[in-house]
Amino acid sequence: MTENQQAEIEWRDGAVPVSTRFADPYYSRQDGLAETRHVFVAGNGLPDRFRPGFHIAELGFGTGLNMLAALKAWIASATPGRLRFTSFEAFPMAARDMAQALAAFPELTDQARPLLAAWSEGRTRIETDHLDARIVLGDARESLSEWHGRADAWFLDGFAPARNPELWQPDLLQEVALHTAPRSTCATYTAAGLVRRALADAGFTVERRPGFGRKRHMTVGRLP
Ligand SMILES: C[S@@+](CC[C@H](N)C(=O)[O-])C[C@H]1O[C@@H](n2cnc3c(N)ncnc32)[C@H](O)[C@@H]1O
Repeated sequence: MTENQQAEIEWRDGAVPVSTRFADPYYSRQDGLAETRHVFVAGNGLPDRFRPGFHIAELGFGTGLNMLAALKAWIASATPGRLRFTSFEAFPMAARDMAQALAAFPELTDQARPLLAAWSEGRTRIETDHLDARIVLGDARESLSEWHGRADAWFLDGFAPARNPELWQPDLLQEVALHTAPRSTCATYTAAGLVRRALADAGFTVERRPGFGRKRHMTVGRLP
């Protein structure tokens, strides 16, 4: 991971990683796992939509919490085969920081083990009985257009749009739509107008839903 700039982290309450580059936490300080389940898993209609070969894609891998929560839901759903997961990340976390962050979620310990083993060896492909994951390192504004996949569900998880506008810009969200299977979905914790407009312009039918914790609204999108 030498060619990429590593994430710079400080810790809030000793447990929640905060990016010093973007001055924003990686997930809710209230309960990161509950937020992930509400926004990204339920927001994309999961686990009900899971089927063999299901493919989730994500902008912003961070700690891997979203992937592990989705994987836990996949295993509980007993869908045959492996969950496919592709995430785009420009500033990979150091393995020790990822381990410290994920230690706050003991119910994901089994799912986290292969991720942490791979990450500490500089591997970005994680393959287990239940998971086939790939983390694409580099700026998503360049790497997504080179990707050949089409996701059944997108987790749009950049830092707050005001702090990390790169990950919410309209042409990147157009690329997201181009890399989404028909009648498939995206979800994000933000309900910022510029994000909702950009998703609508990209072809998604956009819906505002109740947000997690202190956030009043979140956004889901669906392609025709
Ligand atoms: C809110 S965090 C993601 C949290 C993550 N999904 C998790 O489960 O921990 C946002 C992530 O987007 C990444 N990011 C910011 N700008 C990016 C860019 N231009 N391309 C790819 N990743 C980017 C950050 O480094 C950070 O890891």
